[in-house]
Amino acid sequence: MTSSAAAREHADLVAKVRAHDHAYYIEARPVVSDVEYDQLYRRLVEIEAAHPELAHPDSPTRRVGGSPLEGFAKVTHRIPMKSLENTYSEAEVRAFLGRAEAELRRQGHLGEDATPAWTVEPKVDGVAISLRYEDGVFVQGATRGDGTTGDDVTANLRTIRNLPLRLEHPLGLPLPRVLEVRGEVYMPNEGFARLNASRGQEGEEPFANPRNATAGSLKQLDPKLVAQRPLRVVTYGLGELECPDPPASQTALTAWLRSLGLPVPERTWRARAHDDVIEAIRQLDGMRRGFGYETDGAVVKLDDVALRRHLRDTEKYPRWAMAYKYAPDRAQTLLHNIEIQVGRTGALTPVAILEPVFLSGSTVSRATLHNEDEVARKDVRPGDTVVVEKAGEVIPAVVEVVLGLRSPSAKQFEFPRECPECRTAAVREKTAAGEGAVWRCPNPRCPARVRANIEHWCSRTAMDIEGGGEVMARALVAAGLVRDVADLYRLTAGDVVRLERQGEKSAANLIAGIDASRSRDLVRVLFGLGILHVGITVAKILARAFPDIDAIARASVEELKAVEDVGPVIAGSVSDWFSDPENRSLVERLRSAGVNLASSTYRPRDGVAAGRLAGKTFVLTGTLQTMTREQAAARIEALGGKVSSSVSKKTDYVVAGTEAGSKLDKALALGVPVLDEAAFQAL
Ligand code: IVH
Repeated sequence: MTSSAAAREHADLVAKVRAHDHAYYIEARPVVSDVEYDQLYRRLVEIEAAHPELAHPDSPTRRVGGSPLEGFAKVTHRIPMKSLENTYSEAEVRAFLGRAEAELRRQGHLGEDATPAWTVEPKVDGVAISLRYEDGVFVQGATRGDGTTGDDVTANLRTIRNLPLRLEHPLGLPLPRVLEVRGEVYMPNEGFARLNASRGQEGEEPFANPRNATAGSLKQLDPKLVAQRPLRVVTYGLGELECPDPPASQTALTAWLRSLGLPVPERTWRARAHDDVIEAIRQLDGMRRGFGYETDGAVVKLDDVALRRHLRDTEKYPRWAMAYKYAPDRAQTLLHNIEIQVGRTGALTPVAILEPVFLSGSTVSRATLHNEDEVARKDVRPGDTVVVEKAGEVIPAVVEVVLGLRSPSAKQFEFPRECPECRTAAVREKTAAGEGAVWRCPNPRCPARVRANIEHWCSRTAMDIEGGGEVMARALVAAGLVRDVADLYRLTAGDVVRLERQGEKSAANLIAGIDASRSRDLVRVLFGLGILHVGITVAKILARAFPDIDAIARASVEELKAVEDVGPVIAGSVSDWFSDPENRSLVERLRSAGVNLASSTYRPRDGVAAGRLAGKTFVLTGTLQTMTREQAAARIEALGGKVSSSVSKKTDYVVAGTEAGSKLDKALALGVPVLDEAAFQAL
């Protein structure tokens, strides 16, 4: 294809993909199927691969490409990002409205009988950000930080699907030279629930709520990871602005931002009478649970921008706006006990066993206490009366202890140092920065872990064995019939019928389900094995890069790392798992049981590079021009080769740079092939 034909098709595709992104993420009204969208998107990627000069920074393909950062640069907010004064009381909102109006009247900006217009918008519970667009192109995004200086999180923000990388021209109006728009990044409840479920499956700590998940995601240095987090953005304010005709009111601002293609609040109200402002706040409370993301209040703003200028800000807050916070759904109840749950990866999670209490639409009898630090920080003790909170769809959490109701005999809770199930000494393990520490039961034979492993193996996403749920797993393990997942394949209907409460029909179903699972794809097997950090996505990646489980088991950390999207953590975890003899024997027993261990999704191209130098030994000598010797060694290892420091008959190649010495002489003497730098590069 000629460059000009490519440029034309590229422009056409960019416009289409952008329009579909807008319809999907902003209007929530997709016009094409996912398959059609994927086709357009893939073609766009193809063209950009062939014509890299077309991949402008605002191309829709540029959301996910970034490489990890060393740290965040600092951004100074020329216009500070202030916070809002907040209250839980309607009377204080009325007092605020009265104060602001009195001040405007005193200064003569408001007639004696006139009342200004106020707007009411949802207060989204996320992380405040500032987005900078220059000539319509997104160039920088920053967190609030201390209000004056924040972190440059541009690469992370680019991955947010409803954040336009380029603004649209609203009819007839030019794009502003500079537009700094302020808003909130948040995580919708559904995405949050999915993220936590998958973290659970991969043995990672769940996030306490969507706001923490959002903040944790924005702090990630690797934008590729952020791209997998279901973040969204909403915009509601302005920072710096260079534009001939700036909006004169909040109402006009919202309409303008929307016309530029930016996401704006779900619902807004405009009112003059104080009763109507309060009514709007109440209406919002009545509908906000249907939004699908967390809102914790209403923001009341003076509509007219010119009037705002006469109300002077305090150090921290503007005087033209205020937040009314809704009391979260909270209840007091008795905490009977703290149970320690043992997960599949051995993680010990404290769970509060509560006197059942009705909370925002459902009865709650258990609440997570997250980890040891959390129990200690709140000093929760069995027998305490506690405040439990359930914000929206989020799992209930214990907020605090009602100390006034504590019995003098309540004893401090001691987090066990051993597994409550098998009594093995627990080990404390740090997880990713800032996400707390977990205790784990290290015993792979722990009945609780075995039960959880079997349940996981049988789950829908893994081997999809019907009838292999919690009750069955418990019974099979308790009866000593099953000690790991390979044992499932030796079960007979007779074994199962002998278990309590198992009829012949359900036994036959279970056996049929187990039998059918023998032919499932390698992706499901890999996921089902429950290797730390190998969730379904990683399992798919591995099954594409390797032909079968043996190739994965044989792969070195370097070879694993050479697979696209596999980093050092995953590679290390996979390699560790397969180097454990018990795990290897488990794989052998699965093989003897007739479980399929070959990949049906293997695409040789992905894997070939990884193993190209497998089994070859290199010796490096002299100075290389285009890379250091360390870099050359890393490259060889990434392709599966080995680097040795001395030359012998077993050496496959000696790579000789300039000023090579005795190693080169020895290679020549032994007849070992010698590569110069160019030949090495070619290899
Ligand atoms: S306006 C000068 N509008 O709430 C401050 N803030 O508690 C202008 N927030 O820092 C803020 N939704 O991060 C505004 N519709 C909304 C909001 C909102 C959420 C956040 C924002 C602010 C915090 C104050």
